[in-house]
Amino acid sequence: MRKIKVSIAGLGVVGGGLLSLLVEDRRFTRQGVDFGIAGVSARTRHRDRAVSIDAYPWFDDPVALATHDDTDIFVELIGGSDGPAKAAVTAALEAGKPVVTADKALIAEHGPMLAALAEKKGVALKFEAAVAGGTPVIHGIRDGVAACTVSSVNGILNGTCNYILSTMAETGASFESVLLDAQREGFAEADPSFDIDGVDAAHKLAILATLAFDAEIAMADISIRGIRHIQLADVEAAKHQNLAIKLLAEAVLQDGALGLRVTPALIPERNAFAETRGSQNVVTVDAEPLGRLAFSGPGAGAGATASAVAADLCDLARGGAASPVYATAAEQLRRLPSLSTADMENSYFIRLSLKDEPGAMATVADALAAERISIESLRQPPSHDSTAPVVIVTHPCRAAAAEAVANTIAAQPFVAEPPSVLPIIIP
Ligand SMILES: NC(=O)c1ccc[n+]([C@@H]2O[C@H](COP(=O)([O-])OP(=O)(O)OC[C@H]3O[C@@H](n4cnc5c(N)ncnc54)[C@H](OP(=O)(O)O)[C@@H]3O)[C@@H](O)[C@H]2O)c1
Repeated sequence: MRKIKVSIAGLGVVGGGLLSLLVEDRRFTRQGVDFGIAGVSARTRHRDRAVSIDAYPWFDDPVALATHDDTDIFVELIGGSDGPAKAAVTAALEAGKPVVTADKALIAEHGPMLAALAEKKGVALKFEAAVAGGTPVIHGIRDGVAACTVSSVNGILNGTCNYILSTMAETGASFESVLLDAQREGFAEADPSFDIDGVDAAHKLAILATLAFDAEIAMADISIRGIRHIQLADVEAAKHQNLAIKLLAEAVLQDGALGLRVTPALIPERNAFAETRGSQNVVTVDAEPLGRLAFSGPGAGAGATASAVAADLCDLARGGAASPVYATAAEQLRRLPSLSTADMENSYFIRLSLKDEPGAMATVADALAAERISIESLRQPPSHDSTAPVVIVTHPCRAAAAEAVANTIAAQPFVAEPPSVLPIIIP
């Protein structure tokens, strides 16, 4: 039996889940591995935790734990792109210790730099849990698609947004009230901005795109729009057209240029992306000569995420290759030219709320014509007040043209509230 001593920094949702898993010793003995705990670290030593840590050596400083002689593998479950997480992971790699982390912010912001360090030191850096929680999408893309040319990656990657949007559609409650309930029930953070402003999904998209396209991605390369501005009227108008609003993460390679965006999008209701609920994640990869690959599974939660961390530990225990960290060596990662998201073409859903004034619709039609956008359908839902709601679905046009129309209409005196403009995407 191989004895491997694991050190765990961060004992929250995922760290606690991992400790339970390792202590329960599920299949590890059958796989010939005996995982022991070399030490643990968190912010506060004495507090109620799901699993007792009394039996394990305690470290106030995660860096000291990461570099300790007893540490065979260092597991970072603190979170955050910088601070103690980055310091401890860097120190572990410098000291020649393999690292497993679930930290998407760290890998999205510093993955290539850390991968270069890991490869220089000849040790592994693994992060299966960083994207789609328990669903093995990192392994699937890094290894399963290694021989293919990827043209696009799409994903629903943020459980909080998924929960809010599907609950709005199902209950008819407003964004604000669903968010408050989600916070009370622990589905959303006290500060939900990373989730609802699309940053968390963008971190995950950056990691997937690096793997899929052998490309170094800067967060600034990603066009990020969250769901904060989505109103119940948008969700209901979409539903009326058999569409569901989802926060979609999309990476597309077109003529050698890479387009990266996170955006609320309208998706046909019967599509697997539209049917994804709560913390469930879905990722598809289109690759030649493979075709379309789809992953679906739990994207968060103690058990699911810990199981992905533990799967990385098992891989290391079985002697899984340390290098390269991505499908390509860190120094071979490319900087691809950007495909401007303004040039991406989709049909658009434009929801207007107009004051009942003569000539308003003619001005709207002129604004669309000026951008050479033709209308696929126009609907006037019943009004509940003095304003006239109008929902327009356009034929495919550039994102920049749809935005220009929205700006023109928003500046008109007959507009009761700023227009909602959302792409209709069939991922
Ligand atoms: N939760 C999920 O479902 C999920 C899914 C996928 C990926 N992840 C990722 O997994 C990582 C951990 O997430 P989580 O949900 O487990 O977070 P969490 O519940 O907030 O736990 C964070 C842990 O880090 C510790 N910590 C905070 N600051 C520290 C410091 N300066 N030094 C040492 N320890 C410190 C905390 O200590 P105390 O316990 O003493 O406060 C806590 O134990 C994050 O990178 C997250 O993005 C989470």
